[in-house]
Amino acid sequence: MILLDGKKTSADIKEEIALEVVDLKNQDKKTPHLAAIIVGNDGASLTYVNAKVKACDRVGFESSLIRLPKETTEEELLNEIAILNIDNDIDGFIVQLPLPDHIDEQKVLMSINPDKDVDGFHPTNVGKMALNLPTFISATPFGILELLERYKVETSGKHVVVIGRSHIVGSPMSILLAQKRKVGNATVTLTHSRTKNLKELTLQADIIIAALGIPEFLKADMIKDHVTVIDVGITRVADSSKKNGFRLVGDVAFDEVSKKSAFITPVPGGVGPMTIAMLLKNTLLACSRRDS
Ligand code: GUN
Repeated sequence: MILLDGKKTSADIKEEIALEVVDLKNQDKKTPHLAAIIVGNDGASLTYVNAKVKACDRVGFESSLIRLPKETTEEELLNEIAILNIDNDIDGFIVQLPLPDHIDEQKVLMSINPDKDVDGFHPTNVGKMALNLPTFISATPFGILELLERYKVETSGKHVVVIGRSHIVGSPMSILLAQKRKVGNATVTLTHSRTKNLKELTLQADIIIAALGIPEFLKADMIKDHVTVIDVGITRVADSSKKNGFRLVGDVAFDEVSKKSAFITPVPGGVGPMTIAMLLKNTLLACSRRDS
Protein backbone atom coordinates (compact mmCIF):
# COMPACT_ATOMS: atom_id res chain seq x y z
CA MET A 1 0.00 0.00 0.00
CA ILE A 2 1.27 3.44 -0.92
CA LEU A 3 0.04 6.43 1.05
CA LEU A 4 -0.98 9.37 -1.14
CA ASP A 5 0.67 11.97 1.07
CA GLY A 6 -1.23 15.21 0.61
CA LYS A 7 0.74 16.96 3.31
CA LYS A 8 4.06 16.38 1.58
CA THR A 9 2.68 16.95 -1.94
CA SER A 10 1.03 20.20 -0.94
CA ALA A 11 4.28 21.34 0.70
CA ASP A 12 6.09 20.57 -2.60
CA ILE A 13 3.50 22.57 -4.57
CA LYS A 14 3.73 25.49 -2.16
CA GLU A 15 7.50 25.48 -2.56
CA GLU A 16 7.09 25.59 -6.35
CA ILE A 17 4.63 28.48 -6.03
CA ALA A 18 6.96 30.36 -3.64
CA LEU A 19 9.73 30.16 -6.26
CA GLU A 20 7.38 31.57 -8.88
CA VAL A 21 6.49 34.44 -6.55
CA VAL A 22 10.20 35.22 -6.10
CA ASP A 23 10.49 35.31 -9.90
CA LEU A 24 7.52 37.69 -10.15
CA LYS A 25 9.02 39.98 -7.52
CA ASN A 26 12.41 39.95 -9.25
CA GLN A 27 10.69 41.06 -12.44
CA ASP A 28 8.83 43.81 -10.58
CA LYS A 29 5.54 42.13 -11.39
CA LYS A 30 2.49 42.17 -9.19
CA THR A 31 2.43 39.95 -6.11
CA PRO A 32 -0.63 37.67 -6.17
CA HIS A 33 -3.29 38.77 -3.69
CA LEU A 34 -6.04 36.45 -2.40
CA ALA A 35 -8.96 37.69 -0.34
CA ALA A 36 -11.37 35.56 1.69
CA ILE A 37 -14.75 36.52 3.09
CA ILE A 38 -16.17 34.60 6.02
CA VAL A 39 -19.58 35.21 7.55
CA GLY A 40 -20.17 34.09 11.15
CA ASN A 41 -18.11 32.18 13.68
CA ASP A 42 -18.30 28.53 12.65
CA GLY A 43 -15.22 26.89 14.18
CA ALA A 44 -14.37 24.56 11.29
CA SER A 45 -14.87 27.28 8.66
CA LEU A 46 -12.67 29.70 10.62
CA THR A 47 -9.95 27.06 10.87
CA TYR A 48 -10.05 26.44 7.11
CA VAL A 49 -10.07 30.08 6.16
CA ASN A 50 -7.23 30.92 8.56
CA ALA A 51 -5.21 28.06 7.05
CA LYS A 52 -5.78 29.57 3.59
CA VAL A 53 -4.55 32.99 4.73
CA LYS A 54 -1.53 31.46 6.49
CA ALA A 55 -0.65 29.53 3.33
CA CYS A 56 -0.66 32.83 1.39
CA ASP A 57 1.94 34.24 3.77
CA ARG A 58 4.09 31.16 3.40
CA VAL A 59 4.33 31.40 -0.40
CA GLY A 60 4.76 35.19 -0.45
CA PHE A 61 1.23 36.11 -1.58
CA GLU A 62 -0.64 39.02 -0.12
CA SER A 63 -3.89 38.12 1.58
CA SER A 64 -6.92 39.84 3.07
CA LEU A 65 -9.39 38.23 5.44
CA ILE A 66 -12.77 39.91 5.64
CA ARG A 67 -14.69 38.72 8.70
CA LEU A 68 -18.37 39.60 8.80
CA PRO A 69 -20.80 38.96 11.67
CA LYS A 70 -23.36 36.17 11.29
CA GLU A 71 -26.17 38.76 11.17
CA THR A 72 -24.74 40.22 7.93
CA THR A 73 -27.53 40.63 5.40
CA GLU A 74 -27.37 39.22 1.89
CA GLU A 75 -27.25 42.77 0.53
CA GLU A 76 -24.29 43.68 2.76
CA LEU A 77 -22.42 40.58 1.63
CA LEU A 78 -23.19 41.34 -2.04
CA ASN A 79 -21.80 44.85 -1.45
CA GLU A 80 -18.53 43.45 -0.09
CA ILE A 81 -18.28 41.18 -3.12
CA ALA A 82 -18.95 44.10 -5.48
CA ILE A 83 -16.03 45.97 -3.89
CA LEU A 84 -13.65 43.01 -4.33
CA ASN A 85 -14.88 42.47 -7.90
CA ILE A 86 -13.49 45.84 -8.95
CA ASP A 87 -10.53 46.16 -6.55
CA ASN A 88 -7.51 46.10 -8.86
CA ASP A 89 -5.20 44.86 -6.15
CA ILE A 90 -7.22 41.66 -5.55
CA ASP A 91 -6.46 38.90 -8.08
CA GLY A 92 -8.85 36.34 -6.66
CA PHE A 93 -11.20 35.84 -3.75
CA ILE A 94 -13.40 33.27 -2.11
CA VAL A 95 -16.52 33.36 0.02
CA GLN A 96 -16.16 30.59 2.58
CA LEU A 97 -19.10 28.16 2.62
CA PRO A 98 -21.47 27.32 4.20
CA LEU A 99 -23.19 30.68 4.58
CA PRO A 100 -25.87 31.41 7.22
CA ASP A 101 -29.34 30.15 6.21
CA HIS A 102 -30.74 33.63 5.53
CA ILE A 103 -28.25 34.16 2.67
CA ASP A 104 -28.87 32.65 -0.77
CA GLU A 105 -25.62 30.82 -1.53
CA GLN A 106 -26.22 30.51 -5.26
CA LYS A 107 -26.99 34.22 -5.58
CA VAL A 108 -23.76 35.03 -3.76
CA LEU A 109 -21.61 32.71 -5.90
CA MET A 110 -23.14 34.16 -9.07
CA SER A 111 -22.21 37.69 -7.99
CA ILE A 112 -18.47 36.90 -7.97
CA ASN A 113 -16.50 38.15 -10.98
CA PRO A 114 -15.71 34.86 -12.82
CA ASP A 115 -12.16 36.11 -13.54
CA LYS A 116 -11.55 36.34 -9.78
CA ASP A 117 -13.49 33.20 -8.85
CA VAL A 118 -10.50 31.11 -7.71
CA ASP A 119 -12.87 28.58 -6.08
CA GLY A 120 -14.28 27.86 -9.55
CA PHE A 121 -17.87 27.89 -8.23
CA HIS A 122 -19.38 30.50 -10.60
CA PRO A 123 -21.66 28.90 -13.26
CA THR A 124 -19.44 30.38 -15.99
CA ASN A 125 -16.43 28.54 -14.60
CA VAL A 126 -18.38 25.34 -13.86
CA GLY A 127 -19.58 25.44 -17.48
CA LYS A 128 -16.06 25.93 -18.81
CA MET A 129 -14.83 23.08 -16.62
CA ALA A 130 -17.58 20.82 -17.95
CA LEU A 131 -16.58 21.71 -21.51
CA ASN A 132 -12.88 21.10 -20.75
CA LEU A 133 -12.03 24.73 -21.50
CA PRO A 134 -9.28 26.57 -19.57
CA THR A 135 -10.69 27.81 -16.26
CA PHE A 136 -10.34 27.61 -12.48
CA ILE A 137 -10.95 24.02 -11.39
CA SER A 138 -12.33 23.86 -7.84
CA ALA A 139 -9.66 23.19 -5.26
CA THR A 140 -10.78 19.75 -4.06
CA PRO A 141 -11.21 18.03 -7.44
CA PHE A 142 -8.11 19.87 -8.71
CA GLY A 143 -6.14 18.61 -5.71
CA ILE A 144 -7.27 15.03 -6.31
CA LEU A 145 -6.21 15.23 -9.99
CA GLU A 146 -2.82 16.58 -8.89
CA LEU A 147 -2.30 13.80 -6.30
CA LEU A 148 -3.19 11.11 -8.85
CA GLU A 149 -0.81 12.71 -11.37
CA ARG A 150 2.15 13.12 -9.02
CA TYR A 151 1.84 9.53 -7.75
CA LYS A 152 1.39 8.30 -11.36
CA VAL A 153 -1.91 6.54 -10.60
CA GLU A 154 -3.24 5.35 -13.98
CA THR A 155 -6.79 6.55 -14.64
CA SER A 156 -7.12 5.92 -18.38
CA GLY A 157 -9.56 3.09 -19.05
CA LYS A 158 -10.06 2.51 -15.32
CA HIS A 159 -13.44 2.30 -13.61
CA VAL A 160 -13.83 5.14 -11.14
CA VAL A 161 -16.72 5.06 -8.68
CA VAL A 162 -17.47 8.44 -7.11
CA ILE A 163 -19.64 8.34 -3.97
CA GLY A 164 -21.45 11.64 -3.44
CA ARG A 165 -22.79 14.16 -5.96
CA SER A 166 -22.02 17.49 -4.28
CA HIS A 167 -21.39 20.54 -6.43
CA ILE A 168 -18.02 21.03 -4.73
CA VAL A 169 -16.58 17.52 -5.12
CA GLY A 170 -18.55 14.54 -6.47
CA SER A 171 -20.16 16.13 -9.47
CA PRO A 172 -17.07 17.98 -10.85
CA MET A 173 -14.83 15.00 -10.05
CA SER A 174 -16.99 12.68 -12.13
CA ILE A 175 -16.96 15.12 -15.07
CA LEU A 176 -13.20 15.74 -14.95
CA LEU A 177 -12.14 12.09 -14.69
CA ALA A 178 -14.25 11.14 -17.70
CA GLN A 179 -12.70 13.88 -19.86
CA LYS A 180 -9.93 13.47 -22.39
CA ARG A 181 -7.15 14.88 -20.21
CA LYS A 182 -3.86 13.77 -18.68
CA VAL A 183 -5.53 12.45 -15.53
CA GLY A 184 -8.83 11.34 -17.04
CA ASN A 185 -10.15 9.02 -19.74
CA ALA A 186 -11.79 6.95 -17.01
CA THR A 187 -15.14 5.19 -17.07
CA VAL A 188 -16.98 6.95 -14.28
CA THR A 189 -19.95 5.90 -12.18
CA LEU A 190 -21.41 8.68 -10.04
CA THR A 191 -23.28 7.24 -7.06
CA HIS A 192 -25.34 8.93 -4.34
CA SER A 193 -27.83 8.38 -1.55
CA ARG A 194 -30.47 6.96 -3.94
CA THR A 195 -28.09 4.47 -5.58
CA LYS A 196 -29.53 1.00 -5.01
CA ASN A 197 -26.64 -1.39 -5.62
CA LEU A 198 -23.72 0.64 -4.29
CA LYS A 199 -21.64 -2.30 -3.02
CA GLU A 200 -22.02 -4.09 -6.36
CA LEU A 201 -20.56 -0.98 -8.02
CA THR A 202 -17.75 -0.28 -5.54
CA LEU A 203 -16.66 -3.93 -5.85
CA GLN A 204 -16.06 -3.27 -9.56
CA ALA A 205 -14.10 -0.07 -9.01
CA ASP A 206 -10.39 0.41 -9.74
CA ILE A 207 -10.52 3.83 -8.10
CA ILE A 208 -13.02 4.98 -5.45
CA ILE A 209 -13.59 8.60 -4.50
CA ALA A 210 -15.51 8.77 -1.23
CA ALA A 211 -17.10 12.20 -0.81
CA LEU A 212 -20.40 11.67 0.99
CA GLY A 213 -19.61 12.95 4.49
CA ILE A 214 -20.42 9.81 6.49
CA PRO A 215 -17.53 8.79 8.77
CA GLU A 216 -15.96 5.38 7.93
CA PHE A 217 -18.69 4.58 5.39
CA LEU A 218 -16.46 2.64 2.96
CA LYS A 219 -15.55 -0.73 4.46
CA ALA A 220 -13.14 -3.47 3.34
CA ASP A 221 -15.95 -5.77 2.17
CA MET A 222 -17.05 -3.12 -0.37
CA ILE A 223 -13.78 -3.07 -2.35
CA LYS A 224 -11.66 -5.40 -4.42
CA ASP A 225 -7.91 -5.86 -3.90
CA HIS A 226 -5.39 -3.27 -5.19
CA VAL A 227 -7.94 -0.48 -5.45
CA THR A 228 -7.01 3.21 -5.20
CA VAL A 229 -9.02 5.03 -2.55
CA ILE A 230 -9.40 8.80 -2.27
CA ASP A 231 -11.05 9.89 0.98
CA VAL A 232 -12.58 13.36 0.82
CA GLY A 233 -14.48 13.05 4.12
CA ILE A 234 -13.41 15.16 7.06
CA THR A 235 -15.91 14.94 9.91
CA ARG A 236 -15.19 16.16 13.43
CA VAL A 237 -15.99 13.35 15.85
CA ALA A 238 -16.04 14.09 19.60
CA ASP A 239 -12.97 12.63 21.32
CA SER A 240 -12.26 13.57 24.93
CA SER A 241 -8.70 12.22 24.69
CA LYS A 242 -7.84 15.06 22.27
CA LYS A 243 -6.82 18.51 23.43
CA ASN A 244 -9.36 20.22 21.14
CA GLY A 245 -12.09 17.69 22.00
CA PHE A 246 -12.44 16.07 18.57
CA ARG A 247 -10.65 13.99 15.96
CA LEU A 248 -11.01 14.12 12.19
CA VAL A 249 -12.54 11.06 10.58
CA GLY A 250 -12.76 10.35 6.86
CA ASP A 251 -15.45 8.57 4.84
CA VAL A 252 -13.24 5.47 4.68
CA ALA A 253 -12.59 2.86 7.40
CA PHE A 254 -8.87 3.41 6.87
CA ASP A 255 -7.41 0.55 8.93
CA GLU A 256 -9.31 -2.20 7.12
CA VAL A 257 -9.51 -0.59 3.66
CA SER A 258 -5.81 0.33 3.50
CA LYS A 259 -4.86 -3.36 3.83
CA LYS A 260 -6.52 -4.07 0.46
CA SER A 261 -5.51 -0.84 -1.30
CA ALA A 262 -2.76 -0.07 -3.81
CA PHE A 263 -2.94 3.67 -3.03
CA ILE A 264 -4.92 5.47 -0.34
CA THR A 265 -5.18 8.98 1.09
CA PRO A 266 -5.03 9.37 4.89
CA VAL A 267 -7.32 11.66 6.90
CA PRO A 268 -6.01 14.06 7.97
CA GLY A 269 -3.06 14.70 5.65
CA GLY A 270 -4.55 13.53 2.34
CA VAL A 271 -6.97 15.56 0.24
CA GLY A 272 -7.36 18.35 2.84
CA PRO A 273 -3.93 19.97 2.52
CA MET A 274 -4.10 19.65 -1.28
CA THR A 275 -7.12 21.92 -1.50
CA ILE A 276 -5.18 24.84 -0.05
CA ALA A 277 -2.25 24.29 -2.41
CA MET A 278 -4.63 24.26 -5.40
CA LEU A 279 -6.38 27.43 -4.25
CA LEU A 280 -2.96 29.11 -4.27
CA LYS A 281 -2.31 27.69 -7.74
CA ASN A 282 -5.59 29.18 -8.97
CA THR A 283 -4.70 32.54 -7.43
CA LEU A 284 -1.33 32.53 -9.19
CA LEU A 285 -3.18 31.72 -12.43
CA ALA A 286 -5.65 34.57 -11.85
CA CYS A 287 -2.77 36.97 -11.28
CA SER A 288 -0.84 35.85 -14.37
CA ARG A 289 -3.96 36.06 -16.56
CA ARG A 290 -4.44 39.69 -15.60
CA ASP A 291 -0.85 40.38 -16.54
CA SER A 292 -1.06 38.93 -20.02
N1 GUN B 1 -16.30 25.11 2.25
C1 GUN B 1 -15.86 23.83 2.14
N2 GUN B 1 -15.01 23.72 1.10
C2 GUN B 1 -14.92 24.95 0.54
C3 GUN B 1 -14.19 25.46 -0.56
O1 GUN B 1 -13.47 24.76 -1.27
N3 GUN B 1 -14.36 26.79 -0.81
C4 GUN B 1 -15.17 27.57 -0.06
N4 GUN B 1 -15.28 28.85 -0.39
N5 GUN B 1 -15.87 27.12 0.96
C5 GUN B 1 -15.74 25.81 1.27
